[in-house]
Amino acid sequence: MKVYLDNAATSWPKPPGVVEAITKYLNEYGGSPGRSGHDFAIQAAREVFETREILAGLYHVPDSENVIISANATHALNFAIKGLLEKGDHVIISHMEHNSVLRPLTYLHDEGLVRFDIARCDEKGYVDLEHMRSLILPETKMIICIHGSNVAGTIQPIAKIGALCKENGILFLVDAAQTSGFVPIDMQKENIDILAFTGHKKLYGPPGIGGLCMQKNISIKTLIHGGTGSKSDMAHHPEFYPDRLEAGTINTVGVTGLKAGIQYIQHKGIDSIRQNLSELTAHFMRELAKMEEVTIYGPEVHEERLPLISVNVKNKVPSDLAAKLDKEYGIMVRPGIHCSPLAHKSIGSFPQGTLRFSLGCFTTPEEVEYAIQSLKKIIDHENR
Ligand SMILES: Cc1ncc(COP(=O)(O)O)c(C=O)c1O
Repeated sequence: MKVYLDNAATSWPKPPGVVEAITKYLNEYGGSPGRSGHDFAIQAAREVFETREILAGLYHVPDSENVIISANATHALNFAIKGLLEKGDHVIISHMEHNSVLRPLTYLHDEGLVRFDIARCDEKGYVDLEHMRSLILPETKMIICIHGSNVAGTIQPIAKIGALCKENGILFLVDAAQTSGFVPIDMQKENIDILAFTGHKKLYGPPGIGGLCMQKNISIKTLIHGGTGSKSDMAHHPEFYPDRLEAGTINTVGVTGLKAGIQYIQHKGIDSIRQNLSELTAHFMRELAKMEEVTIYGPEVHEERLPLISVNVKNKVPSDLAAKLDKEYGIMVRPGIHCSPLAHKSIGSFPQGTLRFSLGCFTTPEEVEYAIQSLKKIIDHENR
């Protein structure tokens, strides 16, 4: 039996329609969008346009030209962070951030360009809003916050942080890599200026696709210059969106797969997927809580959380447990520091990290039961 419980890394399997959409593009109309006027190029451009429109609808972006297609959330976050911050700017982040925020900021800090402060989080991963507020300086340009923690499953009160930003005239950048497709996001209501998403997790697209959404035109510097298929006679890169941040041939394979992934979850109903996964996650947590050797991190079972469970087992190393689950039971999970050292420090699992089980919309109750029983057997066997 093979059980895939590593959906927070990348979701698998992909829904029906995703592989078909990709195959159809490659087999039937594999042109380059925006580059030529022939049928295939136009059909490819239509797919890209429709995907932008769907994404704009998903996040409540008024104009789909402000939906930028990128390779993943990491590229999108780099575009926003390096393209917006200038010498002397100050930034506030939370203590749960992923390395895709921490590392570009650390780079800019080490180059002597920006300063940043880190708002503390409690042991469940919730950001301390009053601490965040107390860190605001006259030169604070941006608050960056992860929406859902890939380590603890914590979902931040994003609307409250948005209100804080609005009150203080600060830009709000949200890392929605883990929540896109799982938690409804309304950039307008929640005062989110810029949002980074990835396509291969809970939007169920293929790897290599993601993007950046802006609620309105925000002047982000072009970091990668090149061909856009527009204004081709000019030596200067176009300043209008989306071309401004989309140099080079777009990943149309990824776009067609992403579109099909989003259409699948919208057809199923994001709320119903969430309810189903939340019930499975709660059951998983309740059963794990019965094992006295197991420590579960993050929000309590009754609180809203992502469908992932990070644990540690007394006197056991997460990577050893993951290897046993994989080799002896065919269960695939992720151990260690999940690209988020700050988050592990917040919840008290640094430096060993955690053993993370993460569910996707195709995870069955039987698979969850099997994972519970398998972990129990490993623990019981080692205690003998
Ligand atoms: C919270 C969070 N932010 C950002 C990323 C980066 O996403 P990607 O690998 O698609 O760039 C991840 C990926 O695991 C993540 O969990």
